[in-house]
Amino acid sequence: MPNTVIVTREEPIAVVQINRPEVRNALNDEVMSELVAATRRLDDDEAIRCIVITGDEKAFCAGADIKEEFVKATPVSMLAHDLTSQWEALRHIRTPLVAAVSGYALGGGCELAMICDVIVASETARFGQPEINLGIIPGAGGTQRLTRAVGKYVANEIILTGRFVSAAEAKAIGLAAQVYPAATWLEDAKALARTIAEKPPVAARLATEAVDLAWNSTLDAGLEFERKAFYLLFATEDKKEGVDAFVNKRKAVFKGK
Ligand code: CAA
Repeated sequence: MPNTVIVTREEPIAVVQINRPEVRNALNDEVMSELVAATRRLDDDEAIRCIVITGDEKAFCAGADIKEEFVKATPVSMLAHDLTSQWEALRHIRTPLVAAVSGYALGGGCELAMICDVIVASETARFGQPEINLGIIPGAGGTQRLTRAVGKYVANEIILTGRFVSAAEAKAIGLAAQVYPAATWLEDAKALARTIAEKPPVAARLATEAVDLAWNSTLDAGLEFERKAFYLLFATEDKKEGVDAFVNKRKAVFKGK
């Protein structure tokens, strides 16, 4: 089996690292299948409450493997490939996903970061959708998610020029939540994941689902979902624990029940 994705469990978090440094962690079939398999396994594991997706210092991911995937590709081969189902599988992971980006997050790499719930960046990070330089456009959600994240005019400028966006700019335009020093970015991202992992998991899942709906539905439908999810959480043991811990001035310990 290829080992293009390395999973490290550090309960209650796990780190899923793309491992093709020789091609700046470009995505081929193996990486996509392993990413889906690894995140699905972790999603089913109650001991894991937040997943960090990352690459290495030089690159989070430089996008689709242009040499392996695109040189001979035709519309028919692309259709047969059914990449969509793999991206959709990642989208439906319920455990909060943190993208920890150092170096390049380009094309499918930027799209992979954007499929996560939170993006954090090393100060070395460079985001971009440079597909235009290949005669194509983003094909894994870039035109939709980038536009929803940063707005039409900035998204068009980034997509039409193919330029790279620095970590500081990514934070300024709402693409990255935090920028960490180059020396500590991964530790800082893991600390963030541990903070998320300490929270009640059922509430965390419903919160990210509700936030996604803000992108994907009307205000009325989103508010309706939020209200029902809010009421539903009053039936959980973790709500009793959180409220009791507040009232009795102690730290809450959440069980995901
Ligand atoms: N696919 C295949 N190989 C890639 C790659 C990619 N996306 N990105 C980098 N590599 C390879 C290079 O070809 C090079 O291989 P060799 O050593 O065999 O020459 C190796 O990785 C190192 O790359 P560089 O020498 O270019 O390293 P760099 O640090 O100077 O530059 C880079 C890095 C800016 C990422 C540059 O390699 C680059 O521009 N890569 C392409 C980025 C890109 O266009 N991504 C979009 C792909 S299309 C897509 O993703 C569609 C989609 O929506 C899913």
